[in-house]
Amino acid sequence: TSRAATGGNIEAAWAALRDEAMACTRCDLFRPATQTVFGEGPLDARMMFVGEQPGDQEDLAGKPFVGPAGQVFDKAIGEAGIDRSTVYVTNAVKHFKFEQRGKRRIHQKPDAGEITACRWWVEQESLLVKPKVTVALGATAARSLLGKTVTIGRERGRPIELADGGTGWITIHPSFLLRLPDRDRAEEEYAMFVEDLKGAARLAA
Ligand code: URA
Repeated sequence: TSRAATGGNIEAAWAALRDEAMACTRCDLFRPATQTVFGEGPLDARMMFVGEQPGDQEDLAGKPFVGPAGQVFDKAIGEAGIDRSTVYVTNAVKHFKFEQRGKRRIHQKPDAGEITACRWWVEQESLLVKPKVTVALGATAARSLLGKTVTIGRERGRPIELADGGTGWITIHPSFLLRLPDRDRAEEEYAMFVEDLKGAARLAA
């Protein structure tokens, strides 16, 4: 889907893409999941954020980053001076992968095959939005963006040239902060996360 091929009607192309994604069977994750959680945000956004996959609440709401990780995300981008309503937010994998334990649905990491299967959608979203900077939140997003395994600690917080000519920027996933038991460490990591986001925002300005 290119801008030229759709006569410049990017909104319509995006809606068609999202509708197509709602019926995606590229991997088996669509079976137990409630629905496809597609990306959202203005299609002229200068920044695109890529998360891992929808969580329990996102799976039910049909929207990315609305659960606990989403709250950390909103707070951190706000502190970095980024208005969520101006950015496009999506996930590397668009169905919630979980293990049922009683009534609870426990998050499971998407594997390489699932990331690869879903990568096509992220690429199409990127072709429509053409963001100046694509921020990968965590290892799954970074793997989707770069097509290989990367070490977040080594690659974070600096521009990375992407195959499509865009610029990538890697940082941690907000849920990493929720898993840190040590309060001081969590505050330090949170501050570093905000700094990464500020750097990405400067690049996108
Ligand atoms: N975590 C993600 O990576 N994405 C979401 O949409 C929610 C939680």
